[in-house]
Amino acid sequence: MSRRTPPNAGVSRDRLPYLHSAPRIPFCSDARRWSVERPSLGHTGRVDLDAARALWEPDPGWLNTASYGLPPAPAWDELQAALTTWRHGRGSWEPWDASVGRAREAFARIVGADAHDVAIAATAAELVGLVAASLPAGSRVLVPDIEFTSNLFPWAAQQDRGIEVVTVPPHRMLEAIDDRVTVVAYSAVQSATGEVADVPAIAAAARAHGALVVVDATQALGWLALDAADADVLVCAAYKWLMCPRGTAFGVFAPHVREWVRPNNANWYAGADVHDSYYGPPLRLAAGARRYDLSPAWFSWVGAAPALELVERIGVSRIGAYDLALAGRFRAGLGLAPSHSPIVSARIDGAAERLARAGIRAATRAGGLRASFHLYNTEADVDAALEALA
Ligand SMILES: Cc1ncc(COP(=O)(O)O)c(C=O)c1O
Repeated sequence: MSRRTPPNAGVSRDRLPYLHSAPRIPFCSDARRWSVERPSLGHTGRVDLDAARALWEPDPGWLNTASYGLPPAPAWDELQAALTTWRHGRGSWEPWDASVGRAREAFARIVGADAHDVAIAATAAELVGLVAASLPAGSRVLVPDIEFTSNLFPWAAQQDRGIEVVTVPPHRMLEAIDDRVTVVAYSAVQSATGEVADVPAIAAAARAHGALVVVDATQALGWLALDAADADVLVCAAYKWLMCPRGTAFGVFAPHVREWVRPNNANWYAGADVHDSYYGPPLRLAAGARRYDLSPAWFSWVGAAPALELVERIGVSRIGAYDLALAGRFRAGLGLAPSHSPIVSARIDGAAERLARAGIRAATRAGGLRASFHLYNTEADVDAALEALA
């Protein structure tokens, strides 16, 4: 069987200076490099958005970051190196595990949290499920009626033991918060429509009524700056706007929440000292949110750390401004009113077929077109989509 040689195979690590800020992964000498030469972005500190955009290699027409984001070159390269090490058994897993620590720290900085309060997992739903499983019977959970089910089903699955789930349209969430509500669980940005919630206002209302706030930030973080302090529990699957591999999710658990949420998935990796937690009693879990950690799917995390570090260096609000400008151009071209979301949903007859014929990859959600715009998209992507839909 013939093997395809990747473009620029053999580019040395020294020609990829953006990698130098990261801990070194034990490279094998013949590790194949899948990257082309790219501009130096220095080792640390802010990077210019236009310069950084050269680190992505999208084919034209990927308008579906709300389904999954594309990896920047540093993430792709570190992942290829780790896969090569794995393939040949050339090293231990500890360097891959170092990526989990880097990712946790970077995520914490992005949401203004303490890394001590951040747990890692593979999906958003399992983090919500931890909280749901610990709620006392008689609790009432308020959720938007179009909520992505990773933040609905975990609550609903507890109904048979006396948890009540009440749904209202997203725009009615604020007025539905009252003293009977135990938990307000909602997405900062709705997956189907791109609707952006008033996160601080919901936090204030929930706190005024003594309710817990659980925010799913999956469709927000990476373009919208959020403050973890506006949630008691914030969960985020990182494979969309944060452009990490699938299988990476974070949960920020406020200290008061950790007093009653059970570590139902307790495992060696959640141990106070990971390397001293392989065998036998007693239960000895980490003091912080790390007690909720799932043992990591290593390769996903190897790709996650550089992606998060890059998002942080570019700056979420700069990325957001860029994304919103593209979405605004698309909305204007469709004759839609402006909005404050990089996710555009619209009902257009035959949209899916017309876009597919033009080679444009968007999504259909709730019966309508869902197009989403991120920093690797261009005005040409927008105009091609508009032309296909004209
Ligand atoms: C708002 C939201 N939350 C979570 C997810 C993914 O959930 P999970 O990580 O449980 O698969 C998605 C995926 O589309 C989503 O849109």
